[in-house]
Amino acid sequence: MGHYHEPVLLNEVLIALAVKKEGVYVDATLGTGGHSVAIGGQLGDNGLLIGLDVDTGAIELANERLKALKCRYKVFNRSYVELDSVLVDCGIDCADGILLDLGMSSFQLEGSGRGFSFLRDEPLDMRMNPVAKGPSAADLVNTLREDELEDLLRRYGEERRAKRISRAIIRARSKTPIQTSLQLASLVSAVCPRPKGGMLKHPATRTFQALRIAVNRELENLQAFLKKAPDFFGPGGRLVILSYHSVEDRIVKQAMVSWEKGCTCPPDFPRCVCGKRPVMRRVYRRAKRPTEDEKARNPRSRSAILRAAERI
Ligand SMILES: C[S@@+](CC[C@H](N)C(=O)[O-])C[C@H]1O[C@@H](n2cnc3c(N)ncnc32)[C@H](O)[C@@H]1O
Repeated sequence: MGHYHEPVLLNEVLIALAVKKEGVYVDATLGTGGHSVAIGGQLGDNGLLIGLDVDTGAIELANERLKALKCRYKVFNRSYVELDSVLVDCGIDCADGILLDLGMSSFQLEGSGRGFSFLRDEPLDMRMNPVAKGPSAADLVNTLREDELEDLLRRYGEERRAKRISRAIIRARSKTPIQTSLQLASLVSAVCPRPKGGMLKHPATRTFQALRIAVNRELENLQAFLKKAPDFFGPGGRLVILSYHSVEDRIVKQAMVSWEKGCTCPPDFPRCVCGKRPVMRRVYRRAKRPTEDEKARNPRSRSAILRAAERI
């Protein structure tokens, strides 16, 4: 049971999804199934829950818990980028609600052995999909040029010390390849010591975030999903997204604002010539955040940002 943790912003997610007993709900990032168990628990006999994850290890853990559900459910080892074809395979025209809980699962961080945590000594892999063919985090840190590494750390980690860290990586790997998470974490710590009086985040937090995003093409996947998202719903359908850092949240916010606006004509045009109409409206003007209580109880929720949109 060690990998099952309290789902982030659970009540807020259920409220934002406005779960209907007989509806079709998609948990597009199933993880170990925390949100799914709660969503499925609100569904009646004719409701349907569809869960997707690229990580077979997470799916195994989720399946163990989903067995107890009374509603119908289907689980797919597929990417949410392919949700359109998953819905076709299920014979579903549109969903009543879709949840995306971005970031890592507790299983990946603590139990996958794939180097997601800077506190554990594991091979520096970071592929969420364990059978993915793309480069691992070790491949990136050992092969990218210094300027490419610096750009990656800045772009995906918003790391202000990107130059210093990429230089240290190049120096370290010229002596011995960087193979493990602790090797990387300690070389980052060595060039970015915590200031006196402590610092909330580990110095390698942003480096690890940036590599994970690059290895799993997380921003490309999110953008590809958002491009198609309004088509997945009938009127009143709800999309709920939990993101964990500003790079991701900016993409989600921009998509929701543009769906609400519809028209893409430049602001100085006297009237609309694009003819695009609003397709979804935001459920909340401002993002929802965890309470201090939840943050204290559930540290994984600390940086969570919830946004929701409803199909018009
Ligand atoms: C934060 S966790 C989800 C936790 C889950 N809500 C729970 O309560 O247990 C995010 C999950 O998304 C999965 N994931 C990442 N990229 C994905 C993709 N493109 N398609 C499907 N799942 C993906 C990860 O493997 C991970 O298990």
